[in-house]
Amino acid sequence: MRLPRPEQIWTHEQRYRILKSPDEIRELHDRVAKDPYRQTFHVQPIAGLSSDPNGFAYHKGVWHLYYQWCPWGAVHGIKYWYHVTSPDLIHWKNEGVGMAPDTVYDNMGCHSGSGIAVGDDLYLLYTGNHRDENWIRTPYTCAAKLGEDGKLTKLPKPLFGPRDDYSEHQRDPKVVYVPEKKKYYIFIGAQNLEKQGRALIYESDQPLEGWKFAGELKVPGFEAFGGMWECPCIVRISGKDVLIFSPQYTKLPGRAESTNHNVYMVGHMDYDTLTFTPDSGYQYLDFGFDFYAAQCAANVEDPDKAILISWIGLPDNHYPADPKDWEGTMIVPRELRIKDGKLYQTPVADLEKVWDGEAPADGTLPGACDMLVTVPEGAFDLNLFTKADGTGGFTIHYDQEKKALVIDKSKLDERFNDEVGEVLEVPVPDGVKNIRAIIDSCSVELYINDGASTFSAHVYPSAAEHGYTVTDGAQVKIWKIKPTVVDDFVV
Ligand code: FRU
Repeated sequence: MRLPRPEQIWTHEQRYRILKSPDEIRELHDRVAKDPYRQTFHVQPIAGLSSDPNGFAYHKGVWHLYYQWCPWGAVHGIKYWYHVTSPDLIHWKNEGVGMAPDTVYDNMGCHSGSGIAVGDDLYLLYTGNHRDENWIRTPYTCAAKLGEDGKLTKLPKPLFGPRDDYSEHQRDPKVVYVPEKKKYYIFIGAQNLEKQGRALIYESDQPLEGWKFAGELKVPGFEAFGGMWECPCIVRISGKDVLIFSPQYTKLPGRAESTNHNVYMVGHMDYDTLTFTPDSGYQYLDFGFDFYAAQCAANVEDPDKAILISWIGLPDNHYPADPKDWEGTMIVPRELRIKDGKLYQTPVADLEKVWDGEAPADGTLPGACDMLVTVPEGAFDLNLFTKADGTGGFTIHYDQEKKALVIDKSKLDERFNDEVGEVLEVPVPDGVKNIRAIIDSCSVELYINDGASTFSAHVYPSAAEHGYTVTDGAQVKIWKIKPTVVDDFVV
């Protein structure tokens, strides 16, 4: 059950090798592409590891998405940005390497960052992960510009280097434009010298120059909340600010043994005092086993909606696909809205356009599908990936005393990451009304009560695990989903 850690199998040289030619991974891709667990409508790596989403932006009618990519296998080593594009957030095209570690500032990887379109240009801000011969790290905040011809040009010099009054953990620039201040701001995930998670704020009136350190982001009540805030992101929806980040090096309530999480707060961001005041506490952006490093797209014109993407995976987790030299997939992008001061998430509406007819609700999962279960209030059980006799599976049970959904993956044939917990709970104080389950070859994403909470997980069902069972009286609708990603070899 405990998979060997890839770092124990791979040598340093193997993990940090620079990709010199596509031919070096052609056979690897051919082998990976035959894996029955390859996704059919989720973005996934051509081979190797895909982790954080990066540079997500809408520009000239095209959605640009990049992800952290280690070409060699399911291991964290040298990182590229792999580029995919889409007209509708549903059909994705592999574009090849979007950014390569080829300068002194990013010699050991182009780490995470964000994108923003300004006029005709798309700018990408990223962390240059520099390491010297003694493996001492210096993280630089760097920028690049995507040309009309699809070619990327890096700025010759970083926008700024790290501050020496914080630890080496300073990375993942999220750039935003704040119209009322007529300024750009960069949020950087950081750790202070006391090893507490922080975000740092830089400001400028131009996206590619003039950056000054403005100060540390203050979030009253969250001064001791995790040891590092990775991938900070801020977005405005219906006049509210939503702060998202991935705190790590800490356990949090309801997250079993995991030390990696993704949270959000709804509140108000004051750029004069650099203070984010949450309306209430933090919430999990997703309660699932595998969800991390979420970021919102830039240049979404609708003031009442944001578009979210995230990695189905966690930094310290290992998956059954690892030994086959690939891991990681993105969620189906989500629309975020605020209703009565609360955040709601739904899969992008166009997902319904790739429904491939209704499947009979006869207790069998048809493979890739979108399933909606509606229940009268009270008891609720939905067991996915059960055996033909209804046993086993990924079980979702409403505990009426706890007022929580208890989600248990321990009865599946293929067990993994059991040491961080195979049972998690989602508080549902008002009872379960509906659950939408989006199922692909190796993932399930649950939307509970119209997206008031979500739960994402990797699942690798065996050939015998394609049934489902549900509470009596529940109404079940299942739509098959057409493939929307092409598993082609583009480097
Ligand atoms: C989050 C993270 C980021 C970093 C990137 C490197 O998963 O650790 O903080 O930029 O991954 O791949």
